[in-house]
Amino acid sequence: MTTWNLTGTQKHVLICNGSSCMRKEGEEITLAIRDEIKTLELDQQIHTSRTRCNGRCKDACVVVVYPEGNWYSATSTEVGRSIIKSHLDPTIELDHSLIYSFKNEELLAANTEKRFKGVSKVELKEV
Ligand code: FES
Repeated sequence: MTTWNLTGTQKHVLICNGSSCMRKEGEEITLAIRDEIKTLELDQQIHTSRTRCNGRCKDACVVVVYPEGNWYSATSTEVGRSIIKSHLDPTIELDHSLIYSFKNEELLAANTEKRFKGVSKVELKEV
């Protein structure tokens, strides 16, 4: 058990470690993200947390970055590393990995042509 002093943290990276994401290199991607943070000496700025299922299993491995509110489909350790590198270099291209982005106080889907839309929570309530 650890209690970190998180003062000064600029980003919180949530790495899905649910069963679907773990089947799609979730452990390797988690370790790569943490290794990249260490390599770039960003421990003070970027905090990571392993999570359970984030409800987007078709996009495994799901990585969520706040405060931006960007949800990524990290399909490789390289994508995981790029998510961290983009903290220092915003020109790094991650748009192809984007699932959702937080805009005007709501999540908006990205890359809808290649993503599984998913089950609507509203339709589910009506059943
Ligand atoms: S297990 Fe990762 S989104 Fe479901």
